[in-house]
Amino acid sequence: MRVIIKADYQQCSKWAADYVSYKINRSHPNSTHPFVLGLPTGSTPLGMYQELITQNKQGKVSFEHVATFNMDEYIGLPPEHPQSYHYFMKENFFKHINIQAKNIHLLNGMTRDYEKECNDYEAAIRKLGGVDLFIGGIGTDGHIAFNEPGSSLSSRTRIKTLRYDTIKSNARFFNGDITKVPHTTLTVGIGTIMDAAEVMIMATGRNKAEAIKHGIEGSISHMWPISILQMHQHGIIVCDEEAASMLAADTIKYFKEIENHAS
Ligand code: GLP
Repeated sequence: MRVIIKADYQQCSKWAADYVSYKINRSHPNSTHPFVLGLPTGSTPLGMYQELITQNKQGKVSFEHVATFNMDEYIGLPPEHPQSYHYFMKENFFKHINIQAKNIHLLNGMTRDYEKECNDYEAAIRKLGGVDLFIGGIGTDGHIAFNEPGSSLSSRTRIKTLRYDTIKSNARFFNGDITKVPHTTLTVGIGTIMDAAEVMIMATGRNKAEAIKHGIEGSISHMWPISILQMHQHGIIVCDEEAASMLAADTIKYFKEIENHAS
């Protein structure tokens, strides 16, 4: 696993955006072989999206031949609902870049047939040859996408009920009104994420420190879903000093030294 520890949120966002652009450009995508990106919502990736928008406008990266698959969506929120992940992605990223609408994939939280929706999503990923780079954030409890603690580490795209802590934490996006937060979601599974050629997880802020500690120094456990990244051949964690603050000093020194020698 690569662990990138940057001073602050801004630097994490810049590093992540540069990496995404580098991977897209290096793969020389075209209409038959698009670069396939897995994408998260949440406050953590916003800075990366802003930087990618800037790079797109500057002509440093093109999304013309990039296909995207978002991680998750709330059940019961229509795409035009301001708290839906459809709306979030459109407003914060897609409408600002040169991506083709046909290449954008999000789970439909308004479907009546959850199983079919989830199976079709997995099939659509397979049809494009799998995800090249899956980007994710983490919850304070180490959840990735909406795979809460206790989720099967080999789970596939499916319906999940949220735990109370996550509902409480996500109420900040619903004007603090916990009764407005949907209790169920559709989410890619941990197995779906792990199938990607590369997985990059971003974590910033002190409230992610415990999850980062378990993810990097802990044992692999379904109680800290992020820890499965230890099993990925190409896993990257990009975090700031605050999110890294519960790691042992030696661990921080070790990963910083590796990156300093690599660059
Ligand atoms: C939600 C999303 C996750 C995200 C997490 C953290 O639970 N389903 O994909 O990683 O929130 O969000 P934030 O980046 O706002 O801390």
